[in-house]
Amino acid sequence: MRNIVIFGAPGSGKGTQSDKLIDKYGLNHISTGDVLRNEIKNGTELGKTAKNYIDKGQLIPDELMVDILASVYDSFGKDHKGVIFDGFPRTIAQAEALKKMLATRGHNVAAMIELDVPEEELMKRLILRGQQSGRSDDNEETIKKRLDVYHGQTAPLIDWYKREGIHSHIQGLGELDRIFADICAVVDRL
Ligand code: AP5
Ligand code: MG
Repeated sequence: MRNIVIFGAPGSGKGTQSDKLIDKYGLNHISTGDVLRNEIKNGTELGKTAKNYIDKGQLIPDELMVDILASVYDSFGKDHKGVIFDGFPRTIAQAEALKKMLATRGHNVAAMIELDVPEEELMKRLILRGQQSGRSDDNEETIKKRLDVYHGQTAPLIDWYKREGIHSHIQGLGELDRIFADICAVVDRL
């Protein structure tokens, strides 16, 4: 079982590279952002709560995220090939909760893969996507807030996972296929 955290700032390519990993390794995928956007689309109570945070570029409260995560994880059954966690964890509390949730099931995170992309490239990618797909948080003002939240609350996880001994750094600027090959080199070693 290869549980992998794919990590990086907004626009770093977590979703894009997750799709390629799913195809190649038959892994399952949890994108907490996709889960929340789906709840918003379906007009659920959770969706209504989530929208307030997402449109401001803020994080949804940890307790709420952790509950959702555990139930999606369990939906894959007991003997899955592994799960890609995309957009989770985003705080130290979430990382600790994930470790605990997996440990109670006899599982663990095998690797944390950090996609490192310069800030001006992130801005360029997300503004472009905002123009094409109209994601409500892909506008300049909200992107800046998301990047601030990333630096303040999420980036400290890099050191946290280094201490766990499972952090890998990937240059996330450049050709999709070169980035994917670098990620596969990490996954193949697991
Ligand atoms: P989430 O949906 O996770 O958004 P995000 O982290 O801001 O990241 P994105 O999905 O925008 O980017 P990505 O890294 O997936 O990149 P992508 O592959 O799409 O979260 C949204 C919100 O939900 C949060 O702000 C928060 O409110 C809430 N939330 C989610 N999880 C939470 C949690 N755990 N706790 C609390 N709140 C939570 O690529 C981006 C673009 O770049 C695409 O257009 C793509 O085509 C392009 N691209 C990708 N790779 C390349 C490349 N190599 N070269 C050029 N372009 C590229
Ligand atoms: Mg994404």
